Amino acid sequence: MKKFRPTPAQRKALSLIKSKTKHILLFGGSRSGKTTLLVMVIIFRAIRYPGSRHLICRLRLKDAKSSVLHETLLPWLEHTIGSKRYKLIRHENFIQLYNGSEIWIGGLGDREQVDRILGHEYNTIYFNEVSQISYHAVTTAYSRLAMKIPGCRNLFLYDCNPASPLHWAYKVFIRKIDFKTDTPIVKPEMYESMLINPEDNLLNLADDYIEDVLDILPERQKARFRHGLWVKSDGCIYDRFEESMIIDPNDLPEMEYYTAGQDFGLNMAAVKIGYNKDKVYIVKDHGGHNITTRTFNTQLTERNWFKDDMPVYCDPAGGERIQEITGGQKANNAVDPGIDYINSLIERNRLLISSECTGVLSEIWDYSRDEDDKIIKVNDHYMDALRYGVFTGAQSGIILS
Ligand SMILES: Nc1ncnc2c1ncn2[C@@H]1O[C@H](COP(=O)(O)OP(=O)(O)OP(=O)(O)O)[C@@H](O)[C@H]1O
Ligand SMILES: [Mg+2]
Repeated sequence: MKKFRPTPAQRKALSLIKSKTKHILLFGGSRSGKTTLLVMVIIFRAIRYPGSRHLICRLRLKDAKSSVLHETLLPWLEHTIGSKRYKLIRHENFIQLYNGSEIWIGGLGDREQVDRILGHEYNTIYFNEVSQISYHAVTTAYSRLAMKIPGCRNLFLYDCNPASPLHWAYKVFIRKIDFKTDTPIVKPEMYESMLINPEDNLLNLADDYIEDVLDILPERQKARFRHGLWVKSDGCIYDRFEESMIIDPNDLPEMEYYTAGQDFGLNMAAVKIGYNKDKVYIVKDHGGHNITTRTFNTQLTERNWFKDDMPVYCDPAGGERIQEITGGQKANNAVDPGIDYINSLIERNRLLISSECTGVLSEIWDYSRDEDDKIIKVNDHYMDALRYGVFTGAQSGIILS
C-alpha cells in the first residue's frame, strides 16, 4: 500500500483547507499536484465522516471520468483503503465506501447530468478545472452543499490552470470582488486561493517534464502552465481587446437604438447592444444555467431588457425556443465573418463594453482557437450571443455607418 505524502506546497494547501474558509481555489501550472491533493481531501473526508456525500464535477462528465476518476480517484482509493472497501457504481458514476460515504462524479455542462448530480445534497463540492465552467453553473450548484453530518464542516473546493485576468475566478478569488458588481465581496475571508506550480511537485514528475515540455511552450501558454499566471490565452480571438475598452456604465451615452443576441443551451446567455454614432456599446448581459427559455425570458423582462422593436438575434439552432424570446428572430450564424466584423470594430476602437457585462468580459480573453485554428468550444456562450447581436445587426443594414 502506498502512503500519500503531500509535497510541501500540498501541505500548505492542506492547512488552508483546514482553516475556517469555505471556498478554496488551488490554481497554477500543470502537473503541480492540485487535483491529487483535492481528491485526497475528499477521500479523507469520506473516510472520516461515515455516511457523508461528496461531489467532484467538471464541465464534461467524460473529462471528469478520464482525468479525475480514472487517473486520480480510483488509484488513490486503491492505495489508501484498497479495492475491497469501496465499490464503483459504474452506471451511476459514483463510488460507495465501506462506511456508507459516497463520492459522486459529474459534468455541470451536460444537460442529462445536471439534474442527476444536483438532485442530492453534499458535504463537499469540488469544481475541477473551473477555468472552463461558467459562474452560473458553479453558483447553481451552491445550494446543494447542504448535507448535515455531525462534526463535518462543508466545503467548496476549486482548481484550475489560470485563465485570463477577466475570468470570474480571478475576480472572486484573487481580487475578491463580486462577479456581477465589481464591489468588494461580502465575507472575503471565506474565499482563499493558493498558487501551486510544477516545481512544487518535482518529486512526482518525470525528470524532463518542466524543461522539455513546459519550457518550450509558446509565451502565454508558458506563463499559464509553467508559472501559473493569469494572462490572455494563446490564440485569443479578440486579442486586440484592451482593458481601456471597458467603460463605466455611468459613462454610457444615450443610445440611438439597440439590438440583442441570444444563445440557447444548458447555459443561457444574452447580450444587449446599444448604438451611438459610429460606436457599438455592449451595455448589459445576462446568463442562466439549467433554466427554461420561458423562465429566462421572464428574467430578462424583469430586468427591463427589452426595448420597443429591439430585434433579438437568436442562435438559429434554437428552433422553437426563438419564439419564446420577446422580439426573437434568427441570427446570422456565419462564424468567421462575424468574428472578423467584431475584430474590425475592436481595431478601430468602435466597440466598448460596460464593466457590468461580466459574462462577456469573463470570456473575451479566453475565447480562442487551438493549434488547428478551430475555435475551442468551451466558455463561449456570451461570445456567441455577442456575435449574433452585433453581426446580424450589421448584416441587416441596421448599422448605417
Ligand atoms: N503527493 C503526491 N504523491 C505522489 N504523486 C503525486 C502527489 N501529488 C501529485 N502527484 C502526481 O503528480 C502528477 C500531477 O498531479 P495532478 O494531476 O494532481 O496535478 P494538477 O496540478 O492537477 O495538474 P493539471 O494542471 O494538469 O490538472 C500526477 O501524476 C500525480 O499522481
Ligand atoms: Mg488537475
